[in-house]
Amino acid sequence: MKETSDESDGDRANVRLRFMAFTIRRASVDDARAIAVVHVESWRTTYSGIVPDAFIAGLSEEKSTETWKEQRTDGDGFLFVAEDQSGIFGFVSGGKLRAALEGYDGELYAIYLLRAHQRQGAGRLLVKALTEAMRGKGFMSMAVWVLAQNPAVSFYKRLGAIQIAKQTIEIGGVQLTELAFGWPTLDSGLN
Ligand SMILES: CC(C)(COP(=O)(O)OP(=O)(O)OC[C@H]1O[C@@H](n2cnc3c(N)ncnc32)[C@H](O)[C@@H]1OP(=O)(O)O)[C@@H](O)C(=O)NCCC(=O)NCCS
Repeated sequence: MKETSDESDGDRANVRLRFMAFTIRRASVDDARAIAVVHVESWRTTYSGIVPDAFIAGLSEEKSTETWKEQRTDGDGFLFVAEDQSGIFGFVSGGKLRAALEGYDGELYAIYLLRAHQRQGAGRLLVKALTEAMRGKGFMSMAVWVLAQNPAVSFYKRLGAIQIAKQTIEIGGVQLTELAFGWPTLDSGLN
């Protein structure tokens, strides 16, 4: 909650309490376009200066929409969105671990929020929704890959994840270091 002063006549300030109300819910196929818009926009603000500009310029909301539609209709995996009165501003996706990491069975594939909505608690709640859903389906643990230069590293650490692996990947012709963080158990909830 933030307190904002929106009017002042000298002696008196009209104080308005602004509640940052938002909802976390499972995504439907109809949300694919809104998720793609968030994905592409958040990619641009997050990775500019890390990933080559040409690669970022080539991102397409249309292509991304198709990917998210498939993600939603193929039945596998989990997808949650965060929305407020202005619409969807963030999402998280996860499911079965894609590339083997010893001791891990689940993976957080992606979590992206529009910049204006970051650092207000939605990321933590999205991860919580994902881990609860995954635990409900029998997953024991969860890993996530993140570029070493991404400040999101601090977010995962804050949520109790530990570094478990490291690799070099190529994006747009540039070699980048990617780190895997993991939550070895999902049973006690996240920090
Ligand atoms: C990373 C991201 C999902 C985090 O979500 P968020 O809503 O901003 O984070 P929250 O407000 O829920 O923060 C939870 C905790 O992590 C901390 N944290 C979040 N981002 C942080 C950062 N960049 N640096 C340091 N700490 C951070 C918060 O301070 C908070 O700690 P607290 O409980 O002690 O206050 C969001 O910032 C984002 O979408 N970033 C851009 C996209 C991205 O990098 N995605 C990850 C790709 S691997």
